[in-house]
Amino acid sequence: MAAPGGPREAPAAPDPQADAPSHPQPDGPADRLAGEVVLAHNRVEVVHGVNLDMLGQRDPEQYGTLTLAELERHISEWAGALGLQTRFFQTNFEGELIEHLHSLRDMADAIVINPGAWAHYAWAISDALQIAALPAVEVHLSDVKAREPWRRVSVIEDLCVASVAGRGAEGYREALELLRRHLAGQ
Ligand code: DQA
Repeated sequence: MAAPGGPREAPAAPDPQADAPSHPQPDGPADRLAGEVVLAHNRVEVVHGVNLDMLGQRDPEQYGTLTLAELERHISEWAGALGLQTRFFQTNFEGELIEHLHSLRDMADAIVINPGAWAHYAWAISDALQIAALPAVEVHLSDVKAREPWRRVSVIEDLCVASVAGRGAEGYREALELLRRHLAGQ
């Protein structure tokens, strides 16, 4: 189970800069070094909301069998392969998520967010995401548009670059790819 209450560095995230210490740091949104686009702004905050700490014990038909810690490991690896750095945060307390979003302006360049059920009604989280003013992708493991009517509403989708739902863990990889392209200005 993931420990709530504070951002955690991804344990296994490969450092995308590790092999290029002698290169100058790019100063634009992206720079082409050794044939690869190296992002100057590559810090992605992966935020999980209410009940997502219970992955692995929730309905596997909807949410798969991975625990949150296992999911975060996959996300960290996918991000590393894309040259993105990840930090992870999960909470079951709405105010804690709001305060975390408030803290992100100078701490992250983009957000992947699965708010859980808050996505469907928590307008204060929507406001906090707007205040964060960072490119964000909304992710849901399950296909929320094909489930109960109350899950079809998202109070954050209009603030997000994209929403990915119903793709299971793979949806996070898609979200990272979308954000990478966005951060590279593509
Ligand atoms: C969820 C979908 C929500 O409707 C639900 O309340 C969750 C998980 C998903 O990832 O599919 O807790 O966000």
